[in-house]
Amino acid sequence: MKDARTILITGAAGNLGTVVTKKFLSLNYRVIACVHGQNSFDHSENLLIEELNVFDETACSQFIQRTIEIHGSIDCAALLVGGFAAGKIDGMNEAQLLKMIQLNFLSAQHLFIPLMNHMIENKMGRIVLAGAQSVFAPSSGTKMSSYVLSKSLLFKASELINEAGKNSNVTCSVLSPSTIDTPENRASMPEADFSLWNKPSDLAQLIVDFCEDRNHQMVLSL
Ligand SMILES: NC(=O)c1ccc[n+]([C@@H]2O[C@H](COP(=O)([O-])OP(=O)(O)OC[C@H]3O[C@@H](n4cnc5c(N)ncnc54)[C@H](OP(=O)(O)O)[C@@H]3O)[C@@H](O)[C@H]2O)c1
Repeated sequence: MKDARTILITGAAGNLGTVVTKKFLSLNYRVIACVHGQNSFDHSENLLIEELNVFDETACSQFIQRTIEIHGSIDCAALLVGGFAAGKIDGMNEAQLLKMIQLNFLSAQHLFIPLMNHMIENKMGRIVLAGAQSVFAPSSGTKMSSYVLSKSLLFKASELINEAGKNSNVTCSVLSPSTIDTPENRASMPEADFSLWNKPSDLAQLIVDFCEDRNHQMVLSL
């Protein structure tokens, strides 16, 4: 039997991350689940839970190095840490923008650089970043400027990763959810039609399809 593929998932204890982690485990991947607090995972032979602060660049690159030494290779990555802040462009300030860039861009960048280099050396790799559909909505600047600016960086980064990896079978895509059906979103928008929202399980399937070469889109959306 072929060795199990390894996927690294950040934000693994989050709403989407939990479902993505369980999905890959159900497909017999070896999952390295990066968390930085509580998690609700049951013990599984294929699940390795790692505490990692993705804001710490040095810790991230040392972590990737160590993981490669222990496990040999990391085939896929879903870098899902991120978060939201509301705010119009006319009131945007540097502190808000830097906070969003740290949470939505640097949280991924600290990992995708060492991961990409490792995957290029290995001549195989799939990386999924967590963008947002609102980057493409013309009205988003009136409601969530620093958020969409920070998420927009991921789309350019993905292009750059694809360019760097084009001769090495290393590809990257940006998952672009609209509103995800999470308990927090239900509580903050109780009047909304939840049936229109993205289900974490459907988003998880998009990531699986990209990792398994059934979907080659550079933007993954439902
Ligand atoms: N929810 C939506 O409607 C929506 C829509 C579009 C895009 N997205 C994007 O999709 C992704 C997943 O969303 P989600 O709703 O599942 O988010 P979530 O539930 O808030 O999960 C994010 C996870 O990242 C972790 N995290 C935060 N800072 C960290 C750090 N410094 N080091 C390590 N981990 C850290 C959080 O841990 P703690 O909870 O312990 O802080 C949490 O487990 C995010 O990138 C989000 O921006 C979400």
